[in-house]
Amino acid sequence: MSSEELHKRRAAAVARGVSSVVSSYVADAGGGRLRDVDGREWIDFASGIAVTNVGNAAPRVVAAVREQVERFTHTCFMVAPYESYVAVCEQLIELTPGGFEKRAALFNSGAEAVENAVKIARHATGRPAVVVFDHAYHGRTNLTMALTAKVMPYKHRFGPFAPEVYRVPMSYPLRDGGLSGEQAAARAIDVIEKQVGNGNVAAVLIEPIQGEGGFVVPAPGFLPAIAEWSRGAGAVFIADEIQTGFCRTGSWFASEHEGIEPDLVTTAKGMGGGLPIAGVTGRADIMDAVHAGGLGGTYGGNPVACAAALAAVETMRELDLAAAARRIEQRMLPRLGELAAGDPGIGEARGRGAMLAIELVRPGTIEPDAVRTTAVARACHDAGLLVLTCGTYGNVLRFLPPLVISDDELDRGLAILEGALATA
Ligand SMILES: Cc1ncc(COP(=O)(O)O)c(C=O)c1O
Repeated sequence: MSSEELHKRRAAAVARGVSSVVSSYVADAGGGRLRDVDGREWIDFASGIAVTNVGNAAPRVVAAVREQVERFTHTCFMVAPYESYVAVCEQLIELTPGGFEKRAALFNSGAEAVENAVKIARHATGRPAVVVFDHAYHGRTNLTMALTAKVMPYKHRFGPFAPEVYRVPMSYPLRDGGLSGEQAAARAIDVIEKQVGNGNVAAVLIEPIQGEGGFVVPAPGFLPAIAEWSRGAGAVFIADEIQTGFCRTGSWFASEHEGIEPDLVTTAKGMGGGLPIAGVTGRADIMDAVHAGGLGGTYGGNPVACAAALAAVETMRELDLAAAARRIEQRMLPRLGELAAGDPGIGEARGRGAMLAIELVRPGTIEPDAVRTTAVARACHDAGLLVLTCGTYGNVLRFLPPLVISDDELDRGLAILEGALATA
């Protein structure tokens, strides 16, 4: 059945609120490529939104899933536990930053992990307030909509939202007049102290590099200053590493680039090699503050997803995918920088590892150019390159190739992007 025919069926069956970036339907995918049902090949610069870090249908993941499915598919860890859940928690404890004693718990999605991190922080501190940042994205459930900044499409007419969420300014070097990390942190801290009050803050929640908000890399020093303030105020510092984690930025976790050790880390996406699994990992005293039975869910840490997560981590270790992400940065970022130098409509090329972006602006200004961004993305899609847009202003093109992508695929993708920028 062709994409066109499938699209017709979809229109009559799938709710309009669930939309897709492209209208081609996937037949199969592997490594850094997708093939649609019409026989067309795509180069993948999306990784299913930073999920298939190990590549699509990674061999170890496929084998582990097969093997697990044949043994058992579900018992519910809260009913009859199994080893792989424990093993995934052990891996999370080993891989997340911080040499202190930790515990972990598993969930199904990023939003669910964030909800649970907030539950844990509130329980451990006995305080209500959660501090989040401009441009933040933390999910689409009721609490995480409140934590997310952008109204369209995520929040419009979906309120009322959860209370006790306070938004403070982010460090956004292109858009905050060049504040240093320390200055931007002081600006945020001033708002917290004046509007929330140190003693009320249960958690400070931040993406070390913002994802949906525009691949915003805060100025150096911002994250350490916020983390230090948080600790001093007795609040739980939570790093949302759902998009940045699992080698994406050139290390296991993006917090490592600034030497910060979050009290709690939320993970999902790349963790499961394509299967739905998420985690909250952090200081044992905070995690274990919650009474038995206070955390969980029917499917959290499903055995098939756990098998996939263990195989994904093994693949990351075996292929050294953190180094692969750094190589992708070395190959892509200079070229994106050259494109920016030659095109006054590109305000900035930025990012870390294989989490890279260009922000499009009206020439000579920092006024966002969402119209051109959409046009460039469409031109890329027409030429067989799957790219995504993001940003509060819809003016950022983001590049998230699988970390196993070949140099040849990367170069061909970049050539398509160059062509698209030249015409759109
Ligand atoms: C930083 C961050 N947090 C949370 C989420 C929500 O994850 P999920 O879509 O799995 O609920 C996302 C998803 O894009 C994300 O990028």
